[in-house]
Amino acid sequence: MDFAYKAAALAAEAINAVYPGTDINADTVAGMLETPPNPEMGDYALPCFKLSKALKKSPMMISDALAGAISTQEFARVESVKGYLNFFVDRALYAQSVVENALSQGASYGSGSEGTGKTVVIDYSSINIAKRFHIGHLSTTMIGNALYNMYAFLGYKCVGVNHLGDWGTQFGKMIAAYKRWGDEETIRNGGVDEMVKLYVRFNAEAKDNPALDDEGRAWFKAIEDGDEEALRIFSWFKEVTLKDAERVYDMLGVRFDSYAGESFYNDKMQPVIDELKEKNLLVDDAGAQIVKLDDYGMPPAIILRSDGATLYMTRDLAAAKYRHETYDFDKCLYVVAYQQDLHFKQLFKVMELLGWDWAKGCEHVNFGMVSFEGGTLSTREGRIVYLEDLLNQSIEKAAGIIAEKSPELENRSEVARQIGIGSVIFFALFNGRIKDIDFWWDRALNFDGETGPYVMYTHARLSSVLRKAGECTEAPDYTALSDPEAQAIIHLIDAFPSLIRTAVNKSEPSIVTRFSCELAKAVNKFYYEQRILDDDMGARSARLMLTRAARQTIATALRLIGIQAPDRM
Ligand code: ARG
Repeated sequence: MDFAYKAAALAAEAINAVYPGTDINADTVAGMLETPPNPEMGDYALPCFKLSKALKKSPMMISDALAGAISTQEFARVESVKGYLNFFVDRALYAQSVVENALSQGASYGSGSEGTGKTVVIDYSSINIAKRFHIGHLSTTMIGNALYNMYAFLGYKCVGVNHLGDWGTQFGKMIAAYKRWGDEETIRNGGVDEMVKLYVRFNAEAKDNPALDDEGRAWFKAIEDGDEEALRIFSWFKEVTLKDAERVYDMLGVRFDSYAGESFYNDKMQPVIDELKEKNLLVDDAGAQIVKLDDYGMPPAIILRSDGATLYMTRDLAAAKYRHETYDFDKCLYVVAYQQDLHFKQLFKVMELLGWDWAKGCEHVNFGMVSFEGGTLSTREGRIVYLEDLLNQSIEKAAGIIAEKSPELENRSEVARQIGIGSVIFFALFNGRIKDIDFWWDRALNFDGETGPYVMYTHARLSSVLRKAGECTEAPDYTALSDPEAQAIIHLIDAFPSLIRTAVNKSEPSIVTRFSCELAKAVNKFYYEQRILDDDMGARSARLMLTRAARQTIATALRLIGIQAPDRM
């Protein structure tokens, strides 16, 4: 239990002793605690004006009364100052408790078992067949991966789903184009790029030659009817796309438990359509079947087009039902850009209208757009940055920096890979997810400032200090960790477990990314101000313990967001 919570628990106990009959508990108080702007005012402060209303007393009276009612050995003192109840930790005791607790748990420090027996389905990355992975896919892939890691860390069973975009009339056109101009060899060698070329050519030529569109439609119908040749070509397109994507997933360290995409639901939509009918939710609209949502301020959800074709929405309804039946999930997260806000609002509303009460567990984890060095991405204008190219360039640039900074480093190419890829991931996960991201090389790969290389470098530096120090068997003297620099690190390490839970509750990996950066800053400040390899062996031992705990916590934070931290750089 972190010390902030201990302070809250003590305060809650005092409140209930002095003012019986309230329903204020430790959790309520924990939500009110603040960190005073300077340590002179304590490590935690309870602003008692937040209790005035409930207790019908002035803040000053409350803080005085509570200070009088608290006696504790865990805190050095508790003071009432102008309506604030200030808690001062016993610094040595605090250091010992936090550092020893963190070290005894090792890489699992911060983890938990609150998710045991619960399942979270995470729908992320969800790429479209015959399209190449571009940097617009970075956010969904890495946010989803980070959420996967964090939920698993808390004991949840996670199911990562890549809800492939593998259904639609465009695939009929692709087959038509392939039959006309394509050949197996070219696509086998060129991958998705060659498929895209065919598709572009098809659309260009179809403008003057409407017969092409008929061909496309005919091939799509063939896929729908289960025609052997159509299905063979189509599933081969899928294979090629996935093989290309797999290379990027391998680089990013991302994997999925299921690739059940849109086409998987071909035979699973009818029961949903029947249920919508049964519950009188379907309305005929010029031949189309829709669910009206005017009452909720939304345009209707279209379930069947007038030609009987199903839609993205229809498949998502079937997918939700399937996931519920298959995984019995507690939560189902959809990590999809905010452009689809309306789609998911409609989807969740229709599920609610169907009376699917488990739909409460569904959440749209939306995020902003990615642009590149000041320009938006556009396939049409050729301003498209492929993720694989971006990652390879990043590795190359990192290799250049390493060659300059540490020419004698062993396994240089592996370290360049970790830094190159880690920097891109860090950049993508640094800001709150709803913000748009503009990717700049000089920002992502900078070794100074709030960047991946900075945090990774700090981690390597701590590893190096520990290597140089070797074994230190002296009993640690924790009073040596009473200085503000050491205490700042201890506060951060102490807050880590609850921080992860906040990140999970808000579906916000950036909280962990920023934390890794704050901890790295605190560590560098400490390193600058204090001698770690002190002549006093008790002090040296305590500082090394702290160094170890800090290194481990940075590594865990980075690992959760999908970054491997090198030990040497
Ligand atoms: N393939 C879709 C796209 O690129 C994203 C799918 C998201 N998942 C879902 N169940 N709708 O826009």
